[in-house]
Amino acid sequence: MAAPVDRREKVLILGGTAEAATIARRLVEAGADVVTSLAGRTSNPAPLPGRIRIGGFGGAEGLARYIAENGIAKVIDATHPFANRISQNARLACAMAGIPLERPERPAWERQPGDDWIEVESLDEAAAALPAGARVFLALGRQHLAAFESRTDCHFVVRMVDPPEKPLGFADYDLILGKPSADPEEEADLFRAHRITHLVCRNSGGEAGYGKIVAARKLELPVVMVGRAA
Ligand SMILES: NC(=O)c1ccc[n+]([C@@H]2O[C@H](COP(=O)([O-])OP(=O)(O)OC[C@H]3O[C@@H](n4cnc5c(N)ncnc54)[C@H](OP(=O)(O)O)[C@@H]3O)[C@@H](O)[C@H]2O)c1
Repeated sequence: MAAPVDRREKVLILGGTAEAATIARRLVEAGADVVTSLAGRTSNPAPLPGRIRIGGFGGAEGLARYIAENGIAKVIDATHPFANRISQNARLACAMAGIPLERPERPAWERQPGDDWIEVESLDEAAAALPAGARVFLALGRQHLAAFESRTDCHFVVRMVDPPEKPLGFADYDLILGKPSADPEEEADLFRAHRITHLVCRNSGGEAGYGKIVAARKLELPVVMVGRAA
């Protein structure tokens, strides 16, 4: 059960995920003073309950300064499970500021009957695991694509929320503008339309990104699954 909300409490949510939006809604409805922080990776972020601030803090020290200057009583780190730097900064900053830090759990996905997963530890390993001639859906943020650029023998399909500033570095690719769908049918339609043979993704866990995993199972596609950092 969620902890009771102190109505005077000023809470900083480190966000950028569906879970962060859910937490913001719950806390605002309970009367807390909430500010969600976004890294600023998307140009038009979806509206959120409470206030929003955008952009980096300037490391752990910057975050500790923000906490002190804004009278933050608690930080909730609801960032993506692979966003390790901001989570580390949050741990350091909250220790420096002497305030509590909550980190909601987002369990990793587990292989289900019918899943054909090739489990790897890194993006480089994922790139090496693809067979020549594969048509690959890369369900990865733009900062994680470089490891695949040397695979000039594969076709890549990349989905982004905002268009890239310059062409991507792949020899052969299609770009789709949009967000992942939690609906496996929609994801399966997309995979079919692009004649996808392999899905590459990170084991983020959570419901919002699970549609593609179910779609791959349904279409019997191999999934190159990058595990979470130890
Ligand atoms: N919804 C998704 O599927 C999804 C997927 C990936 C990432 N994300 C979100 O995108 C953001 C960036 O991810 P990343 O992997 O690049 O993170 P990262 O490597 O851990 O963070 C890099 C730097 O970006 C800034 N930053 C990250 N998250 C921030 C936040 N919520 N508010 C303010 N500054 C933030 C920090 O800069 P300073 O050191 O200057 O403070 C941090 O040092 C995260 O907030 C994450 O939750 C969402």
